[in-house]
Amino acid sequence: MANLSPFFTIPIFILAFLIIPLSHSIPFIVLHGLGDQCSNRGLKQFTELLSNFSGSEGYCIEIGDGSWDSWFMPLGEQAGVVCDKVKEMKELTEGYNIVGLSQGNLIGRGVIELCDGGPPVKNFISLGGPHAGTASVPLCGSGVLCVIVNTLMKSEIYSDYIQAHLAPSGYLKLPNYISSYLEKCTFLPKLNNELPEERNSTYKERFASLQNLVLIMFEQDTVLIPRETAWFGYYPDGAFKPVFPPQQTKLYTEDWIGLKTLDDLGRVQFISVPGGHLRISREDMNKFVVPYLNDQAAPIEKSIERGGYVSLKGFDFEI
Ligand SMILES: *[C@@H]1O[C@H](CO)[C@@H](O)[C@H](O)[C@H]1NC(C)=O
Ligand SMILES: *[C@@H]1O[C@H](CO)[C@@H](O)[C@H](O)[C@H]1NC(C)=O
Repeated sequence: MANLSPFFTIPIFILAFLIIPLSHSIPFIVLHGLGDQCSNRGLKQFTELLSNFSGSEGYCIEIGDGSWDSWFMPLGEQAGVVCDKVKEMKELTEGYNIVGLSQGNLIGRGVIELCDGGPPVKNFISLGGPHAGTASVPLCGSGVLCVIVNTLMKSEIYSDYIQAHLAPSGYLKLPNYISSYLEKCTFLPKLNNELPEERNSTYKERFASLQNLVLIMFEQDTVLIPRETAWFGYYPDGAFKPVFPPQQTKLYTEDWIGLKTLDDLGRVQFISVPGGHLRISREDMNKFVVPYLNDQAAPIEKSIERGGYVSLKGFDFEI
């Protein structure tokens, strides 16, 4: 074999050049939840782990100063900030994937649906996203103070002031206040194309162009009410029961945003994992997140580190 002629070696070099650009992996961005920020240890670790497992470059995208703005900047503005950032990132021009955490999922969907001229989003992996809204103010834990805060918020949540100053009010959907919600809530009704007069087919086209939509629900989630909202399941208008599975909601049956289109194409994964809000094991990260961050043509079997949990700040907040 020592005297192989150059004719055999040259084509190998050429092949190597051809293969490298083809197998480059698609970068991903991480959009964090309420009260969290990219500089927090848990989030850094989460982004780094996903990068390590997938071999893809990952970027945690910050909005404003992080934690504070995640609470107080309206979601439409937050999505606008991310839209501007992804347009500026040269790494993303060929397309990218989004990993959303809790509230970050609505920002991610805002970017997919509303961002004019942004780079294409390929896969959207959603962990504990309040996609169909949430029926409880995520401000508080328990205790007397929280009961008062909850009561106040419930009466004022659809006021112009709260809508302009408290991010979560953009997706608080109280089944017993549906008309106020539709009239006053500034973000989710638009994002979900809920208003018949204002439905925008561009949002639907963009969302339906995803290659994969992975919706991860946490079985012991007590932050999202109901937890099935992570799958686009929700209560009927006017009542707190039953919880309709996604396929029985109007958003799905009338295909307001293309969820049914995607599902009919076999591009939606409805995943349920044990654990509380955003408490995902490394094993489940490897099983349900990493494969969508790898180059789709060549999924890599990785060894799985067992037993470790990555804990992220959700939007539960103890006063
Ligand atoms: C990711 O890989 C790098 C390099 O091997 C390592 O230093 C780092 O600790 C890993 N990160 C995590 C969170 O495991
Ligand atoms: C729908 O959204 C697109 C993208 O943001 C926008 O260009 C268009 O004007 C909107 N159409 C209507 C009817 O509002």
